Amino acid sequence: MSASPLSVLSPDTLAADPNWWRQAAVYQIYPRSFYDANADGLGDILGITAKVAYLKELGLDAVWLSPFYPSELADGGYDVADYRNVDPRLGTLADFDEMAAAIHDAGMKLIVDIVPNHSSDQHAWFQEALAAEKGSAARARYIFRDGQGANGELPPSDWGSVFGGPSWTQVPDGQWYLHLFASEQPDFNWDNREIRDDFLKTLRFWSDRGVDGFRIDVAHALTKDLSEPLPSQAQIRELEKLNNGSNPLWDRDEVHEIYAEWRTLFNEYNPPRTAVAEAWVDQSRRARYASTKGLGQAFNFDLLMADFDAKAFASIVTKNLAEADATGASSTWVFSNHDVVRHATRYGLPAVVAEGLDEEGKEQAAKSQDGKAWLLAGGNESELDRELGLRRARAATMFMLALPGSAYLYQGEELGLHEVSEIAPAERQDPAFFRNAGIEVGRDGCRVPLPWTAESTSFGFGDVPAHLPQPEWFAGVAASVQDTDPTSTLNLYRKALELRRELQADEELSWVENTNPEVLHFVRPNGWNVVTNFGATAVELPAGTVVLSSVPLVDGALPAEATAWLV
Ligand code: NOJ
Repeated sequence: MSASPLSVLSPDTLAADPNWWRQAAVYQIYPRSFYDANADGLGDILGITAKVAYLKELGLDAVWLSPFYPSELADGGYDVADYRNVDPRLGTLADFDEMAAAIHDAGMKLIVDIVPNHSSDQHAWFQEALAAEKGSAARARYIFRDGQGANGELPPSDWGSVFGGPSWTQVPDGQWYLHLFASEQPDFNWDNREIRDDFLKTLRFWSDRGVDGFRIDVAHALTKDLSEPLPSQAQIRELEKLNNGSNPLWDRDEVHEIYAEWRTLFNEYNPPRTAVAEAWVDQSRRARYASTKGLGQAFNFDLLMADFDAKAFASIVTKNLAEADATGASSTWVFSNHDVVRHATRYGLPAVVAEGLDEEGKEQAAKSQDGKAWLLAGGNESELDRELGLRRARAATMFMLALPGSAYLYQGEELGLHEVSEIAPAERQDPAFFRNAGIEVGRDGCRVPLPWTAESTSFGFGDVPAHLPQPEWFAGVAASVQDTDPTSTLNLYRKALELRRELQADEELSWVENTNPEVLHFVRPNGWNVVTNFGATAVELPAGTVVLSSVPLVDGALPAEATAWLV
């Protein structure tokens, strides 16, 4: 076994280690749904401070906060009205400082979300742009264009927004502005030096306040080629398939000039500030974002998009570790976040048989397996196998936590939470739901405030009803219930995260051949064996002592859909 990694990664050394992020277990907090300390139905900054002990006990290396900035909440806070402040409903900058200190004192790092592609339409600059004339400096901070048609009454192009509906909105003087997401999220013009300087100021503002790293929202959208004539949506779709930087809207090579500038700023700090790109790009293009000359790390959503399948998992891990090796970045792994159906639910839905389908059919089938179609059809409980989903989720998480690289966890997955499907249309908040009636159910089901206790108003989330309705079944999965149950998912996460520290001293993994195609077996340099059984029947384990398994072994064998770690 290598030198005691526990002492290598003690809080003090972690604080000074410039590589702390490479193998970190990072926990994503969606602040408005984490813990409500001031009884207004919305989670807040003081609520996070109040739960630092819980986070520490969970065994995390870092906490990532989704946006907590002033926002009209047209997109859950991803519509930022002021980048260098705290939403007054969530607290103050002094509360933020207190929270950051508590997180650091507990030996954890703090990552915040930066949303550079677009602001809120309530941002002072956008309000100024609306009041200003065509062609003014105020309009040049965003992307304004004249429309088509005799009187400019048609949008400049037929582009659709990511959330559905058109991506251009007309303003009273007839011009149109671009928004790749909701109309309340106007895109910035990153050709404008003022925007670049302002984001440098924002990054410095939070870095000076002790923030250790940044998660960069839609990192692949900032720079655009909007030279006329604008291509059609169909042409853009074709260019998208080329994955060569020629798409006018997404993943352009020039975007890395911005991140090179950010890197210079990050490296002024000790330890250097870190960043992880949220860039939904082809695997072949991901390394550019993860470059040490740029953001340094990029989310890898490959496991998140895969079925619970041995072959798929093996090939994803092999490819991504090879890529990490080649680029010098460490790989990232993630199963759940605030944008997708929780993995316990995805894994409990009926498999869609895609064999025999053409490419388009396969694509649709893959989509229907992400859980959205199920939710839209009413989230029929008889189709969801809750137990199976959770069992697979526990196995998958233990597989992930044993991999080299950083693991990103999403609040509530440590409780084994399922997606909440029972949200009435009138209570939904996600713009994807409103802009896509009948096509997209939206992401509210994974953003429902956490159940901390089995009883009381809002299951211990706060003293008043939560901003999104919580289902009855939360009582059975509340943190307080799981805390004392040694077999709970919460205690599985705690134990796995504690043991994982033993694996953080190196970044190697070797596959061990086995004859069962439904079993994956790898070994880490410290001698630990990790075995995941994706199949439906129990399998024998290799020699060794089992230190943790996702479900109890049966007569020494690893049951179906389970993972074991052996020393
Ligand atoms: C990605 C974020 O994760 C998502 O929640 C948000 O809606 C979009 N970017 C737009 O900011």
